[in-house]
Parts: sequence; structure tokens; C-alpha cells
Amino acid sequence: MAPFKTDSAAGEGKLPRHIAIILDGNGRWARKRALPRTAGHAAGAETFRRIATYCRDIGIDYLTVYAFSTENWKRPREEVDAIMGLLGKYLREAVDTMERDHIRLKILGDPSILPESLRGLIDETADISTHYSGFQANVCLNYGGRDEIVRAAMRYAEDYKAGRAGALTEESFSGYMFSAGIPDPDLIIRPGGEMRLSNFLMWESAYSELVFTDVLWPDFTSADIDAAIEEYRRRDRRFGGIKK
Ligand code: FPP
Repeated sequence: MAPFKTDSAAGEGKLPRHIAIILDGNGRWARKRALPRTAGHAAGAETFRRIATYCRDIGIDYLTVYAFSTENWKRPREEVDAIMGLLGKYLREAVDTMERDHIRLKILGDPSILPESLRGLIDETADISTHYSGFQANVCLNYGGRDEIVRAAMRYAEDYKAGRAGALTEESFSGYMFSAGIPDPDLIIRPGGEMRLSNFLMWESAYSELVFTDVLWPDFTSADIDAAIEEYRRRDRRFGGIKK
């Protein structure tokens, strides 16, 4: 794990082990500058790179971002193609970075309807990830929280029918999620001014602390991560128990 930075808010006190972020506000960021929405996504992808690096540097173990939902296919073809293009570009880059910095990258979601070139890159990054155990970035792609739960239920039912699974528990069910093996997010941040989860990590967010901010995602900086961590530290996490 990288040493904590001492010159930032992340330097003191308990750090969330897993931060998850809903990338929102790319379109509005572009509109404010009279640019096409796709320019907002390009800026948002760059912000992802910056924020992922920062999270790794301050000692966060997992960063999960919501990049493309099962509902985002409803957007104009040109916008969807641009987002897929950006994902390809950043995944190709990630392949080199992962080898150099020993980081892991996992895609959460159903890859089956993604372009073939993206699926190849997803397999490649998954393969590289098996060699390392450091910081892990998770990118939710063709992901929906309810879809994840339904798929988990179907896979459990198949295993049960085939005699491969015993009684269902919260713990064993977690093992059927795309997020199997990843601790639940401690902190979920939503930039862009909306106050909802939009089908993000419906199972995993049961006890996450939620922080909402009006900052549009492409404008998001390390200071915004620090501020969210500060807010997280002020929260009293009781997990249904009482204050000790
Ligand atoms: C939400 O903003 C953003 C998206 C649906 C796409 C996010 C995708 C990327 C940034 C591409 C690459 C990602 C990675 C991780 C490399 P919005 O379009 O809903 O914004 P608006 O609410 O202002 O319209």
C-alpha cells in the first residue's frame, strides 16, 4: 500500500478502504462550454485517470466507478460510440500502467454485448490483474445494480439445482455478484448535484456512507476527494448497532 500523503486531508485518521463514485455531470460540463457532450466524456475520462492515481497514492485499496449503465444504451448512437471509444483508449493505456505500477483493474457488468475489441481488452486486464495484489480499480460497464442481483439469483439457482450450492446466506450470495471478493464500498460519492444512487451497487451499498456534491465530474479534483473523506470521517458508522 502506498504511504498516506501528509499534506492532504487524507493524511490523518481512518481512510475508507473502498471508495465508489458515480461519474455524473459530463454533459453539463460540456454544455457550459458550448462543446459537444462527447467532449465532456473525454474530460471525464481524464478526470478518472487523475482521481484513480490520487486514490492509489493516498492508500485507498479499491476505487469503483460507474461509467456506463445498462440504461445508458438509450443515449444517441454517436454518444454511446464515443464512450465506448474512450473506454477502449483508457483500457489500452491501463494494460501498460498495470504492468508498471502493479495495479488491478476489474470490469463489473455484463460484457457480452460490448464491442469485441473492448471484450478482448477486458480479458487482457483481467489476466494481468491475477499477477498483482495492490490497488484495484473497478469500472462498472453495462452495469445495473438490479441486473446484478437478478443474475446472481439465477446463478445461485443453477448451482443449487446442480447440487453445487448449499443454503443461501448474505455472505454466500455476495459471492455470486460481479463484485465477489471485493469489500463493500465504505464511501459512495456522487458529483453532479443529483441525490440518488441510480441503480449503482444496490446490494453492496447497504451500509455505505453517501456524499453528494454539486461539482461536475470533469471538474472533480483531489481536494474534492479529500473533502469527501473528511465528511466520511465525521460520520458515525454503527452498522445497525449502537454507539460504543
Ligand atoms: C455521466 O454524465 C457520464 C456517463 C454516462 C459516461 C461516463 C463515461 C466516461 C467518463 C468514459 C470513460 C470512463 C472511464 C472510466 C475511462 P452525463 O452524461 O449523464 O452528464 P449530464 O448529467 O451532465 O448530462
